[in-house]
Amino acid sequence: MTSQPPPKPSRLDPEPVARRDFLGIASIWAAVGAMAFATIGMIRLPKAAVLSSPSRKFRVTLPESLAAGQAYVPPGRSVALFRDAEGVYAISLICTHLGCVVKTQPEGFECPCHGSRFHADGSVTKGPAPKPLPWCKVAGAGGSFIVDEDVTVPAGTKVKA
Ligand code: FES
Repeated sequence: MTSQPPPKPSRLDPEPVARRDFLGIASIWAAVGAMAFATIGMIRLPKAAVLSSPSRKFRVTLPESLAAGQAYVPPGRSVALFRDAEGVYAISLICTHLGCVVKTQPEGFECPCHGSRFHADGSVTKGPAPKPLPWCKVAGAGGSFIVDEDVTVPAGTKVKA
């Protein structure tokens, strides 16, 4: 029995690739694929979910019916505005103990967290709050004022209404 010679390769058959060449090409494609997936992953990273907070400097119009010594807390703000015969002033509602928002009372302020009480001028009448409520800067005239909760002023500072 005679063995047949291997079939003659056609011109159109691809060149045989040596194992070493195949592994080299495969490793290059694997590296390219890894870099592509890494790039896609970085592009799809979640964006920081930081919301801008409202400015702590705001314009407010006092209600016409606001009685002398009565507190007016603008919606969404942590400052109480007052009007009396000497002018308009603002007192922060952030408790100086641990930062709770104090409630306005007819005789002053009361903190719901640990029971501190403050006089109507912000001074402490019952602890544990260590310091009085700060007064905030108010500017303007007429019925419209600009309050800056980030700027404190000495207690008793009022602007003419
Ligand atoms: S936070 Fe107001 S008394 Fe503690």
